[in-house]
Parts: sequence; C-alpha cells; structure tokens
Amino acid sequence: MNKEKIDILKKEKNTVILAHYYVDESIQKIADYVGDSFYLAQVATKLEEKNIIVAGVYFMGESVKILNPEKNIYLVNPKADCPMAHMVNINTIEEMRNKYNDLAVVCYINSTAEIKSHSDICVTSANAVKIVRKLPEKNIFFIPDGNLAKYIEKLVPEKNIIANNGFCPIHNRVSARAVNNLKMKYKDAKVLAHPECKKEVLDIADYIGSTSGIIKKVGTCNLNEFIIVTEIGIKYELLKNYPNKRFYFLDSMICEDMKLLELKDLLKTMEKGGNEVFVSEEVIEKAKKPLKRMLKLGE
Ligand code: 13P
Ligand code: SF4
Repeated sequence: MNKEKIDILKKEKNTVILAHYYVDESIQKIADYVGDSFYLAQVATKLEEKNIIVAGVYFMGESVKILNPEKNIYLVNPKADCPMAHMVNINTIEEMRNKYNDLAVVCYINSTAEIKSHSDICVTSANAVKIVRKLPEKNIFFIPDGNLAKYIEKLVPEKNIIANNGFCPIHNRVSARAVNNLKMKYKDAKVLAHPECKKEVLDIADYIGSTSGIIKKVGTCNLNEFIIVTEIGIKYELLKNYPNKRFYFLDSMICEDMKLLELKDLLKTMEKGGNEVFVSEEVIEKAKKPLKRMLKLGE
C-alpha cells in the first residue's frame, strides 16, 4: 500500500499514528508523530482524531489510553511488551511507603498502568533528573529501572534515591568493554549513551540522554562520528536528519519487542480495528494523576 492510500485511510477512519524511534523504519515513515516516550505522551494529549494507533510497546498504548480514556487506542502488536515494565510489584511499593514517611514513588513511564496507579509521579528518561530535583520529598523510590535510578542519584545528590532492581535487557547487556572496542575502532567518534545503560557504560560516555536528547546532541555537535549506545531503530531518524554524519551501533542493541511490530499489522489494524487497549476505569483514574503531573513538571 502506498503512502497516498494510507493517508486516505487515515482520514476515512479518523485515525492518527504515533510511533517510537525504536520501531522499524517502515512504520516510522508513515507515522504522523515519531518521538521518544515523553514527546509521545505530550502529543497524546493534543490529538483531535477519535482513533489512535500506538506503534510502540504495550505500556505506551496504556499511557495514551490513560490520557485519552474517551478515545479508541490500538496497538500494532499487543504481544510487544517491555520486560522492564513488570520488574517491580505493588507489595514492594507498599513496603517502601511503610518504611519512609517522606517518600515519593517516582515511576519511569516504562511500567504497567497498574504500577503507575500506585505511584506519585511518572518520569521519562528525558525529564527524570529535572523532575526528581523539583520534588519536595527527600526520599525517592525510583521504579522500575535501577540504572536510571543510579544515574539520577549521581546528578541529584541532595535526594536519598532508593533504586529498584529492574533493568532494560537491551541497554543493560552492554558492557564498557564492548563500547571501548568500538572506541578503539572509531577513534574520532563521540560516545552518546542512553541512561538505561549500566554505570560502567555511562562512565565512559561523552553524553548521556534520552533518545531525543541523543538526536539533538548530534545536531548541536560539530563532530561527524558517533557511537550510539541505544536501540538501533533511532538510526533512521539520525540518518534522516544528518545524512553526512556517521553512526556506529552495537549489534546487540535490538529490542526484540519493538521489532515485533510489522507494517502489515499496522495496516490491518487501520483497516479492520482490533488490538484495542483497555484499562479499567479505576486504574485510569489513579494513573492519570502521576502522568499528568509529569506533563506539568516535565515541560
Ligand atoms: P526514551 O523514549 O525515553 O528515550 O526511552 C527509551 C526506551 O527504552 C523506550 O522504551
Ligand atoms: Fe523496554 Fe528496553 Fe525495549 Fe525500551 S528498549 S521497550 S526499555 S526492553
């Protein structure tokens, strides 16, 4: 199906497509909005269309539904789920709440709707440091990502950060040694890394930031070669914006879940519906607060 037909279908079906930078480029090419988790959450509050297709993993569809309960939200492939989203449980949150009086439960957006509904505020990698700094509480239980928690701890020493032990399997599997091997091969390249990576990797990075932060950094840097330590899907946006620059990736950095999304399934969803996201009213009511608080404080 060509782009024109897809555009007609979008209008006919009153549908808009949101896509994360990590999905296959065939999907990024036809999406109306492509971005990082924060951008997609922001965009989701400003859409007119009745139907929203979320080309991302499950928690992304849930977040869009929580912010738009009256709309129909569809996933391209509901089997695409972020493993880290499940790496904390409600009992652990309750234990922390019982232990500390002055506690904020700060929830990375890579989490289930239910976990969000038990949290005080959500963050993404683009705004986590800024938001944690602004919180009145001294003690911060950061869930689910332990690596991002430790990164925040370093930059916000005035807070007592309690790190949950979840992780992104794709970012966490990268070692400093693997990055150093690339550095030896491409001596002029700068290392740009996502904060979901382990400390040993972040320690040797020249820049640490979210996917959109990495893309912006390439644009503002007058150098031409970069070792990009995040998921390979971002390469499409990098080459589109900076065709004359060079980008080197680690072969292991492929999110198997993001790659479960295929263009043919997106087109099928657009034509026939299906894969709709449902979240209970009770969870929506509770999870809306931390998400909206993030949109306000993270701006
Ligand atoms: P950002 O979109 O915040 O850069 O996070 C990357 C990620 O892992 C999304 O699943
Ligand atoms: Fe989850 Fe990691 Fe995949 Fe992002 S890259 S969706 S954090 S598993």
